Amino acid sequence: MSELSVNHLLGIKYLNLDDINLIFETADHFKEVINRPIKKVPSLRDITIANLFFENSTRTRLSFELAEKRLSADVINFSAASSSVKKGETLIDTVNNILSMKVDMVVMRHPNPGAGVFLSKHVEASIVNAGDGAHEHPTQALLDSYSIRERLGEVQDKKIVIVGDILHSRVALSNIFALKMQGAEVKVCGPKTLIPKYIQDLGVTVETNLKKALEWCDVANMLRVQNERMEISYFPSTREYTQQFGVTKKILESLDKEIVIMHPGPINRGVEITSDVADSSQAIILDQVQNGVAVRMAVIYLLASKIKR
Ligand code: CP
Repeated sequence: MSELSVNHLLGIKYLNLDDINLIFETADHFKEVINRPIKKVPSLRDITIANLFFENSTRTRLSFELAEKRLSADVINFSAASSSVKKGETLIDTVNNILSMKVDMVVMRHPNPGAGVFLSKHVEASIVNAGDGAHEHPTQALLDSYSIRERLGEVQDKKIVIVGDILHSRVALSNIFALKMQGAEVKVCGPKTLIPKYIQDLGVTVETNLKKALEWCDVANMLRVQNERMEISYFPSTREYTQQFGVTKKILESLDKEIVIMHPGPINRGVEITSDVADSSQAIILDQVQNGVAVRMAVIYLLASKIKR
């Protein structure tokens, strides 16, 4: 297969296994490119991409921009905080105004779940979801699986536990879809109040004891508690959350094997993960960030090749 089955990347649930394998093979090529002295290819010289961020981001925004520039695309950046959205302009009006400047692709982060799907039905451009509320974060899940594949050889049959605030996490949902599609076993671990009731319908099991979850897994993906999405308190205190669900060097040393530690960032050091774990050789957190550029180059390149020009 040499092209994606989709014209937009709106969520992992719209992809199939062939799509994921094609993205990874293409990312392998781009990873080699970005390790060369000249880290750029001319592939997308005729493409213009708008990065629309209606919500804060460090990694995803910079990673997309770098990926686009490494492919020689023209890039424009839009941040809602300094835009006419503040004057009441709608999403469709904002995007159509940007598209009238001959933009081919839109990378969008938005606080509302389904914003990318909505946009894809109303505007003439390829849409890439860079995170939509608590719904999906497909490129994060792709770079996470790509990093597991790089560290452990393959994702199939690996045991992955996702620890933390599953309820509010688009990273958790996209990871579950991606990992299950590739044949991994997935558990979630966290306070019962932060685990959605439908989770078992996704083919995932629940473990509320962190030590047992870590004893079971090959990889632990540690998530941040998303206080910004909470209107009420879901656990008694941060201290108690850390005591039960924070990964420490001590707990890792008590296991009879060395597991891989992941985190999508941003990290809350001393809450879900201690600094000595985050900075250890068991953690592949910065590898994830580095792989994000190659994976996003692959996604953009493959979607751009489907744009009719
Ligand atoms: N992992 C992630 O999405 O980080 P940012 O919010 O900084 O983009």
